[in-house]
Amino acid sequence: MSDNFDVIVIGGGPGGYVCAIRAAQLGLKAACVESRGTLGGTCLNIGCIPSKSLLNLSENFHKAKKDFSSQGIEVSDIKLNVEKMMNNKNKSVQILTKGVEFLFKKNKVSYLKGKGVIFSPSSVVVYDQGKKTSYNTKNIVIATGSSAVSLPGVMIDEKNIISSTGALSLKSVPKSLLVIGGGYIGLEMGSVWKRLGAEVTVIENLPFITPGMDREISNEFQKILTKQGIKFKLNCKVLSIKDLGSEVKVEYQNNDENKKEIILADKTLIAVGRKPYTEGLNLNKIGVKKDEKGRIKINKNFQTEIKNIYAIGDVIEGPMLAHKAEEEGIAVAELLAGQSGHVNYDVIPGVIYTSPEVAYVGKSEEQLKEEGVSYKTGKFPFLANSRAKVNNETDGFVKILADSKSDRLLGAHIIGPHCGDMIAEMALAMEFGASAEDVARTCHAHPTHTEAIKEAALAVDKRPIHF
Ligand code: NAI
Repeated sequence: MSDNFDVIVIGGGPGGYVCAIRAAQLGLKAACVESRGTLGGTCLNIGCIPSKSLLNLSENFHKAKKDFSSQGIEVSDIKLNVEKMMNNKNKSVQILTKGVEFLFKKNKVSYLKGKGVIFSPSSVVVYDQGKKTSYNTKNIVIATGSSAVSLPGVMIDEKNIISSTGALSLKSVPKSLLVIGGGYIGLEMGSVWKRLGAEVTVIENLPFITPGMDREISNEFQKILTKQGIKFKLNCKVLSIKDLGSEVKVEYQNNDENKKEIILADKTLIAVGRKPYTEGLNLNKIGVKKDEKGRIKINKNFQTEIKNIYAIGDVIEGPMLAHKAEEEGIAVAELLAGQSGHVNYDVIPGVIYTSPEVAYVGKSEEQLKEEGVSYKTGKFPFLANSRAKVNNETDGFVKILADSKSDRLLGAHIIGPHCGDMIAEMALAMEFGASAEDVARTCHAHPTHTEAIKEAALAVDKRPIHF
């Protein structure tokens, strides 16, 4: 045994590294085990960050090609250099992952490189290139994240049949990209490659995209993406996927019909969800229990069956979102330091970084109906927002849901420009238990997109000014 820690966090993603830093800030001796070779987990290395880089770069390319000339910006000979674009993305990722390493040094978190295995409730063994080191610890936090799910019998080889990882590093623009799954990954990556020139078709099992999202927003989202040229085959089940070498053959069927159809595509992206990643941790032997979906069971203090072993992020219940994992990491660190760490699961925003963006926080109309909550709705379109108008970004609207009697905010749903940033205002308002009237009476700078939020809040009381 070479060291004694107060806490060893297994997994250096947004949940794990944030937990380790917060624990160290609170005076605990903290370590974080990571086997990838770089910190930041899926999010920084092969998820949120590289996808946002490509979303931004592909949007720039698309605008330069399609919009600039009509706006009086005459450029000729716009060419795409996929290799340079990928290098730009890789550089951003490298800087950010190194940044986490710097934060570890600054906060005196020990970075244990290698694969962590829970040897006992008070020791973790780290395997690194044939070397095995044991560490003693008072507490363990499991933050090992998730991995992509495939379809039964389908092997993702990241060549023609790809996951988000493959879709983030294609060497050239495929002529056609078939996306299976109309969720976060499918729509973000589908948007990237559509803007860069691929023909993109999305096959979704349900009759609508982005399940769980407020249906009015989801329908509008699909309409806008269709206008952008993405094709949708909704309510369709994929029956088989065959890699023919030069292309992929996908057989599918509409859930209401018997007829089978075939699509051929250069690449097929499987984006049908992710599953908790807990392999090789030795959980069975230690006695840490999982539920039927493979998620680690925890109590309200994030403790597993073994009280000094905690779990956070994608390995436990809840949305698989980096910021949700971060909040949980902080809560656990604070609990370990004797404070009252807590996560408000009613106010976890979600954002899809397409163009326009889609963002939400709180309950959808469908959820409120199901729960029998009586609510009022206020809506405001970006078409009537001056800043959106001058920027030629008028697609979408803001929708605010408030309690019929108390006027307390219950949910906010936005599809429109920059709403991934704007949703923070509504999250903060909800965190403070604000009413729609509170938001409506708050002065919002003019001209900004955020005025659409104020107007939607006014519309809850049927008194918008500009619509
Ligand atoms: P998802 O759960 O968002 O969407 C999966 C979609 O696939 C669903 O619409 C589902 O109905 C559909 N589906 C499932 N089986 C299917 C089948 N056999 N045929 C056709 N459609 C099928 O999962 P996704 O997009 O893979 O993302 C995984 C996780 O990563 C999500 O939980 C998400 O929260 C997270 N993520 C978050 C991002 C963000 O915050 N912007 C970006 C990317 C991922």
